[in-house]
Amino acid sequence: MQVQIVDHPLAAARLTTMRDKTTDNAAFRGALSDLTQMLVYEALAGAPSVTVPIETPLTAHEGSRLATPPLLVPVLRAGLGMVEQAHAMVPEAHVGFVGVARDETTAQPVPYLESLPGDLSGLPVFVLDPMLATGGSMLHTIELLVARHATDITAVCVVAAPEGVAALEKSGHPVRLVVAAVDDGLNDVAYIVPGLGDAGDRQFGPR
Ligand code: PRP
Ligand code: URA
Repeated sequence: MQVQIVDHPLAAARLTTMRDKTTDNAAFRGALSDLTQMLVYEALAGAPSVTVPIETPLTAHEGSRLATPPLLVPVLRAGLGMVEQAHAMVPEAHVGFVGVARDETTAQPVPYLESLPGDLSGLPVFVLDPMLATGGSMLHTIELLVARHATDITAVCVVAAPEGVAALEKSGHPVRLVVAAVDDGLNDVAYIVPGLGDAGDRQFGPR
């Protein structure tokens, strides 16, 4: 599986803001939005383009645009904080939604929402979720996508644990990971360390 770590001073600065426990909800959401722009930009490097004939004010010109905009799939709740900025980067993209909440005692994913197109053949898909911890929530989402014939899936995350990366690798599903950092590991309640805490709570408050 391809793992692309977005290593840039501006990405590192936003990630530091997100990790800092004194950052308030609004500043956390702002840093996540900025970082999403960088992650999506990097995730689309090398994506196929098509030529578009246009007229500049001076002459005819062969421009270009994305050949196939990806379907954006935020994983609720925390992925909601990524979708507006990702959509701003790719305004022509369609958006699907998946809702999953980890059971706090077992860390198993508990699905509660899916709103996705029925057939994803030939369509790249970007799954937006800041946290890849055990990988359970991401794998649940990927399985929904593969069942709809997706064959080109990118997990766009802020922080991953090595355990989550290994789970995606082991699944054999057609996925690559674009991420700002791979951290040390999980603690005894399956939180990423050093991590940034609960990405949903830090944006929206406790549930
Ligand atoms: C967080 C996060 C991921 C999941 C990662 O969501 O946004 O979806 O945990 O953990 P995993 O890799 O072990 O599955 P959470 O379940 O806390 O829900 P929330 O976004 O509503 O806060
Ligand atoms: N979900 C989060 O929001 N944070 C973690 O560290 C692990 C799962």
